[in-house]
Order: sequence, then C-alpha cells, then structure tokens
Amino acid sequence: MKIELKDNKIFLNSGTFKEEIHPFWLRERVDGPEFLDQGTQQRLFDPSSMSCEIAVDKAKISDGFIEINFNDGVNSKIDLNKLAYEFSNKDTVIKSINKIKWDSTLKNVKNFDFKDNFFESKEMHDLLVSFYEYGFVIIKNVPTKDNFIVKFANSIGSVRRTNFGEYFNVKSKSNPNDLAYTTLHLSPHTDNPYRNPVPCIQLLHCIENEVSGGLSTLVDGYTVTERLKIENPEYYNILSQIKIKFKFIDKNVVLEDWSELIHLDEEKNFKQVRFSPRLDYVPILEKNKLDLYYKARKNLSDLYNSEKNRIEFKLMPKDLMMMDNYRVLHGRTKFDPKEGKRFLQGCYIDFDSTEGKLRHLKRKFNVNG
Ligand SMILES: [Fe+2]
Repeated sequence: MKIELKDNKIFLNSGTFKEEIHPFWLRERVDGPEFLDQGTQQRLFDPSSMSCEIAVDKAKISDGFIEINFNDGVNSKIDLNKLAYEFSNKDTVIKSINKIKWDSTLKNVKNFDFKDNFFESKEMHDLLVSFYEYGFVIIKNVPTKDNFIVKFANSIGSVRRTNFGEYFNVKSKSNPNDLAYTTLHLSPHTDNPYRNPVPCIQLLHCIENEVSGGLSTLVDGYTVTERLKIENPEYYNILSQIKIKFKFIDKNVVLEDWSELIHLDEEKNFKQVRFSPRLDYVPILEKNKLDLYYKARKNLSDLYNSEKNRIEFKLMPKDLMMMDNYRVLHGRTKFDPKEGKRFLQGCYIDFDSTEGKLRHLKRKFNVNG
C-alpha cells in the first residue's frame, strides 16, 4: 500500500489498483488535539453534520505523515501507518488467528498456569490466542475460594448474567431445572441455544472432583461441520439453511430463538453451531424436505457423538476451562455421587471481553498481527 499525490488528489496504490481516497474520508480522520480527544481517542467534532463538499486544497507527504489543507480551513498531519492500518479494513487481531482443526487425536495442547498479575501478562495474551486457535483452553491452579470464577471472568471482561444467575453451581440436586444438575451422562451440546444472543464463552471451574466418572468431553463443531461440507454437501446445505426453534421453559421465563444448526456468515463461512437435542423444534416443512433434514441432523449428531471427534479428560480441582460456545460442544460422562463430591462452577462471558482483552494485550506487548 502506497499513498500518492497528484494535482491535490490523494491516491491509494496497492500495486494492483490505484484509487483516489475520498477527501471527506481523510477529513474525518484529522486527529489534532482540537479535533480528537487525546485521552479517549474520541472525536470532538461531528462529521455526520458537516457539509459533504470537502476538498483538498494542498497536500504534502513527508516523514511518514501526510499534511493536508482542506477547503474548510482545517489543516492536518495524519500518520500514514495509521491510515495503512485502516485500509486493511478488517479485524487483523482476531481474524488473523487461524482456527486449528482437531479431533480425538488432539495432543499436547498447552495448559496455562494461573499466577499473580495473570490478566495483564504476556501469558494471558498467549492464552487468548490459543483459545481462538482451538476454541478452548485450560488454566491450572485457579483459586477456588469465594466464587473466584466471577473475579476471573470480570478480569477478562464482564460476566454475562443469565437466568441461571451471575454464575451457577454444577452439582446434582433434586428438582433440577436443567439436566446439567443431575448425575446423568450429557451428550455433546452447546449452551443456551434459545438465547438471543447466545452467550459466547462458557467458563467452567472445577472446585471438587472426587468421582471416577464425570469426565468432561469436548467436540470441535468447526472441524466436524467443515468435514461434513466436503463429505456430504447436501446435508451441510440443508443444516445451514433451515432455521429451527430452540426453547427453554421454567417457572419464571420462556426463552425462544431460531437458528440454523450450522450458522454461516455473509461469506458462507463458519460462524456458529448450536446443538441441543433436548431443546430443539424443527418447523413443519414439506415431507421430502423434512426427510432430508432429519437424515442430515442424524448424520451430524452421529459425528458429534462419535468417539473419533471427541476428547475426554478429567477436570481436577482448580482447573478452569474456557470454551467457545459458538464453536465447541461440551458434555460429560455420567458419575456416581456415592463415590464422593463433584462440584463445578460456571459462568459466561461474551466475545467482546476476550477480543477487547486480546487487542489491549497486543498493544501493551507490541505484538504484531
Ligand atoms: Fe452445558
């Protein structure tokens, strides 16, 4: 990317194309102290109320800056690096982290160790990168007293409260309002698919675990659905086209939301999976279409439940697992409460928490990419 000048016009030359930069676009970016609050980096003027007839009277490039005199009397010196960053026009922090596909053969994923000043450390930066690569991460030695999970979540960003509260205790109990609070086997699922928006990240903190069962299971929804796309595009297509209803009821609330089991972005790339066969309702469609849909859903369910796609491990006291609830499905094996205690605490945070923290740590440690 190169900035070039000709006849008071400013051009962006990428090597393959050359295009004039709109003068108003540049005028919006003037950043002298009278235009931009230097502390907050927020604008002190309102470009949406300005006349659109902005032109460049004079411009000069020197020492990494472009000096521009605009026709409304404003003169400014803009950092070319800052402009170049904006030309990329994409989120270079999160999107540049490539997702790593995994299945039951996954080995040697780095665990992280909690220590003092953890949330402001380079270790935390590396943890978040690993989280975006694999869709989950495990942190060892996280203090368990006084619902520390809430402090942990709020030190990355903010807890996302749900009707299960700010945090929830995963123990078997009588009259549970969710099967999580039983001793039953839980097949792979994503949490809260009936919410709008669905909570993005689940934190699960092991406080006590004395039972031999109750293993945690994880499946990578990204790997599974990308494989389905290649192996059975017809199934993949219908599962990414038909919206189904997810519903949760208890005595205080009725929650409903509609989504595809495989939700794609505008460019038809993976964005989110939802899967919770206890809570989903397929709409009434023509018989032929439903025929295909049910076969496709069965195939997807078989893949999610296949040992080949699942990793299984025991969370030990002080282990805290962070899972991307848009990508990774989780479950557990059944356990026998007579063997001892099993007590986990959970809560949710959203992607703005991890993204905001990661951008901050990249800035702090001057990490590129
Ligand atoms: Fe769950």
